[in-house]
Amino acid sequence: MRKIVLLTGIMGGFGKKILDTFIKDNYFVIGTYAKNARKAKELVGRYTSKNLEIYQMDQRNLENVSRVTQKIILDYPVIDVLILNAGITRDSFIFNMTENNWSEVIDTNLLGAIQVAKNIFPVMRRNKFGRIIIMSSVSGVYGREGQVNYSLSKGGLIGLSQLLGSMVDLNEDIIVNTLAPGMIKTEMLDMSNQKNVNQFLKACCAKRVGDTSDVAELTRFLASKSNCYSQNTLFQIDGGFMKC
Ligand SMILES: NC(=O)c1ccc[n+]([C@@H]2O[C@H](COP(=O)([O-])OP(=O)(O)OC[C@H]3O[C@@H](n4cnc5c(N)ncnc54)[C@H](OP(=O)(O)O)[C@@H]3O)[C@@H](O)[C@H]2O)c1
Repeated sequence: MRKIVLLTGIMGGFGKKILDTFIKDNYFVIGTYAKNARKAKELVGRYTSKNLEIYQMDQRNLENVSRVTQKIILDYPVIDVLILNAGITRDSFIFNMTENNWSEVIDTNLLGAIQVAKNIFPVMRRNKFGRIIIMSSVSGVYGREGQVNYSLSKGGLIGLSQLLGSMVDLNEDIIVNTLAPGMIKTEMLDMSNQKNVNQFLKACCAKRVGDTSDVAELTRFLASKSNCYSQNTLFQIDGGFMKC
């Protein structure tokens, strides 16, 4: 049977690469995007309705997330893989952080993702199968003082992974893991200031930023049935950040 994956943030750097990778693996992909309807239409045009369906969902609005995920479940009662990938940055130090930047990042990255998981996890339990991959960040593991809102949201996602993983019963083939990428070449990275990038490179054994294909390949494995003996594991994909 063809497997179905729900991927949030399909239009971003990671999202597009993961989409390509999963379609090549013959998954049916359900994707969500937030704003850019024109770009979303272009993306759909590149695939066929046999491979991909997309929904607009704003993770800042929990009511909207509930409504859209309920609609997805009605349309697709079996969801094999959930990839919680959507996320934003609004970087600042703690003393300069505006209320809006706090809430925008925490709502989108953490509360919105929790709401998606809350609705999709029971679907997986009903089907006794699921793979959940949560996109955290090295900022969530080590914390970054210039990214306090982002670091907290990504640290919270590691907690979400542990919570969901601990709820899985023995008779359910459900595995929850978290990915913590370092700096990966995307538009999000292009928005980072060069000082931050240099700091990362200094502490990174590989002395280079990563590629979206590195993230997509690990995601592909974590989504597969071959991933059968991990649970609540945090996979750092960061060129050995802070390890040399
Ligand atoms: N790039 C890196 O170096 C890096 C490193 C570590 C972790 N990460 C994490 O990996 C994930 C993907 O990163 P990326 O580089 O692909 O980011 P990106 O290119 O900026 O894409 C972000 C995605 O999030 C979606 N999004 C933004 N606001 C949203 C909202 N309110 N509701 C729902 N979706 C929303 C965007 O949708 P629209 O396009 O429709 O606005 C877009 O698809 C993020 O969670 C990020 O924190 C990235």
